[in-house]
Amino acid sequence: MDRNFALEFVRVSESAAIAASRFQGRGNEKAADHAAVEAMRKAFDAISFEGTVKIGEGERDEAPMLYIGEKVGARNGAVKLDLAIDPLEGTTITAKGGANALAVIAAAEDGKFLHAPDTYMRKIAVGKEAFGHISLAKSPTENLNAIAKAKGKSISEVTVVILDRPRHRELIAEVRESGARIKLVLDGDVQAALSTGMADGADVLMGVGGAPEGVIAAAGLKCLGGDFQAQLSFRTDSERRRARSMGIVDLDKIYTRDELASGRVLFCATGVTDGAMLRGVTFCGGGKIRTHSVVMRSETGTVRYIDAIHDTHHKPKNFLS
Ligand code: FBP
Repeated sequence: MDRNFALEFVRVSESAAIAASRFQGRGNEKAADHAAVEAMRKAFDAISFEGTVKIGEGERDEAPMLYIGEKVGARNGAVKLDLAIDPLEGTTITAKGGANALAVIAAAEDGKFLHAPDTYMRKIAVGKEAFGHISLAKSPTENLNAIAKAKGKSISEVTVVILDRPRHRELIAEVRESGARIKLVLDGDVQAALSTGMADGADVLMGVGGAPEGVIAAAGLKCLGGDFQAQLSFRTDSERRRARSMGIVDLDKIYTRDELASGRVLFCATGVTDGAMLRGVTFCGGGKIRTHSVVMRSETGTVRYIDAIHDTHHKPKNFLS
């Protein structure tokens, strides 16, 4: 990872975001996702590197593109990287024209991402002021007290972001009982987790969301100096068997941020729909398209926001499909 892939990978997330955003509000989740996947796949191949998809669209037999294990990139003997990708994080959001859909890429050196099964994961995420002060082994109330103390706030000033799901009824009741504020979001816990690492975001993400999204969020928070812990959460025995077949020995293990995404990590995201962190894609007319992205590296802690105006008349064919 000595080469800085930031600008190269952001072109890939831009490409996926533009493709998906053409389906904003059109009520077709599958079409939006497919457009993002196809655009991302094409754009990766224009980059001189060999990428292996570790977190992707699913297993080879269920995903035609960007499946787990698929190789991407120009593959000309260049740098090898592992990828954790979500070409469209927020398929329902995009289909409904809601807020905070993203195209996301995390990259690391070989073997640095947890090979997470496509199950759920119990998560807690905080920004850097609360690093080292969270534990999934403790109750939400204990964590909220620790976070409030670390951030020099009263508990009534702590905001907890939680996916709005029936499975979170008890969690929501406990957080309310503690006196903390709650922000319920309909979808998109990658963006919600990242918001805890931003100056004006929530203080903590709590609750259960997708496991692949957990690995991606851990990579992003690592770049922001934030903290993340997670524990796989299974609904069926077949999910447990699947996890074991993927090499997970201790199904109850609580993973630290660096066990989910270790080594040097690069993270980039482009807004698909308008959100708290990034604006969505704007079609400006005259063949011009505006995108907003963030690119971050754990090694340097640099957080770059890229506001790009693309002129479709001058773009190569493998971009802006
Ligand atoms: P998709 O983009 O795959 O629809 O994921 C959106 C999302 O909200 C994730 O951010 C989150 O981790 C997961 O779905 C939660 O799953 P569920 O909708 O089953 O509760």
